[in-house]
Amino acid sequence: MRVAVFASGNGSNFEAIAKSDELRNLGLEIELLVCDQPQAHVLKRAEKYHIPVFVNRLADYPDRNAYEQAIVDKLKPLKIEYVLLAGYMKVVTKTLLGAYPNRIINIHPSLLPKFSGLEAIERAFAAGDEVTGVTIHYIDEGVDTGPVIKQCKVVRLRNDTEASLEARIHQTEHQMYRQVILDLLNKNNEVAK
Ligand code: GRF
Repeated sequence: MRVAVFASGNGSNFEAIAKSDELRNLGLEIELLVCDQPQAHVLKRAEKYHIPVFVNRLADYPDRNAYEQAIVDKLKPLKIEYVLLAGYMKVVTKTLLGAYPNRIINIHPSLLPKFSGLEAIERAFAAGDEVTGVTIHYIDEGVDTGPVIKQCKVVRLRNDTEASLEARIHQTEHQMYRQVILDLLNKNNEVAK
């Protein structure tokens, strides 16, 4: 199964996927990392795993449509089957959505629809919620909306700081993303039989 991962920053989710022998052995091929931030740490992680990168800045295009079309033009020859968003900080619009209908997956650090948008962990912590979590979903035209694939709860412990809660949320994200991709691979492998 040929995928592209999109990321803008640290890239811990990207690395959790890239380093998994289990996923690779089941047929996961990360053909490309698409990154909109030339200084992002995720680019170093891609280098470590010898994954090609496409650094593409919105500011270099007249509009968002042209920016997304450049990405589609890069993905099509690679025969990408799924796009995995992993901390990609741009809203995805119709050019990409139209090219990969029901094939773009996002991970978000809250129990959507709660705390959609930016700084979800900080806002859940500030709200004092005893239970927060992670959502993996197909995307649509909205921000952090679209059919849910998997949700997991993360309980806030009595002496949690925002940092310790965040660390557990990220751990949960890494396990969940691997599991969701594993399920997709198994489904794809069944269909191919
Ligand atoms: C994650 O919390 C993810 O849910 C959100 O952005 C963050 C990316 O973290 N969409 P990383 O770059 O994978 O470390």
